[in-house]
Amino acid sequence: MSEKKQQVSRRQFLNYTLTGVGGFMAAGMLAPMLRMAVDPVLQESGHGDLTNVSLAVEDITTDPQRIDWKVKQVDGWYESEVNRSAWVFKDENDEIQAFSPICKHLGCVVSWEGSDEYPDQFYCPCHDGRYYKDGTNVPGTPPLQPLDVYEQEVRDGMLFLGDAVPREGA
Ligand code: FES
Repeated sequence: MSEKKQQVSRRQFLNYTLTGVGGFMAAGMLAPMLRMAVDPVLQESGHGDLTNVSLAVEDITTDPQRIDWKVKQVDGWYESEVNRSAWVFKDENDEIQAFSPICKHLGCVVSWEGSDEYPDQFYCPCHDGRYYKDGTNVPGTPPLQPLDVYEQEVRDGMLFLGDAVPREGA
């Protein structure tokens, strides 16, 4: 009698089998969905990549020139192209400077020689913000920080720019 109790009935066998197969199939369907949901979050972003901005170093002068380029941006599952701009010139030490044109006050776009009154400064028309040529903010004008600077590198005579980052100590 007790031997009979330990045997697996046909009904139990079917239950175990169907549960096992069902679970296996469910895992097989859920795994790709879970991977799709989580994968972009785990991917390393393109942060820090440098882009050739199509400007030869020999064409960079002491006069700031505005350059524009596009970079691919991946945001989770969404991939897009975004526009970037910089003011680029060589300083008195012959070093390349590449400033973000985004005003540190409220984010308008600054221009070199944008004001007749202050021709040798970066000028923000939104609230008369001003920056010296070295990108530092003019005291007494709305911006309280210097312009961000682009990470940069020269490869084969061409300028490559990365992300615009706040200056150290800013
Ligand atoms: S946004 Fe540039 S001064 Fe206000």
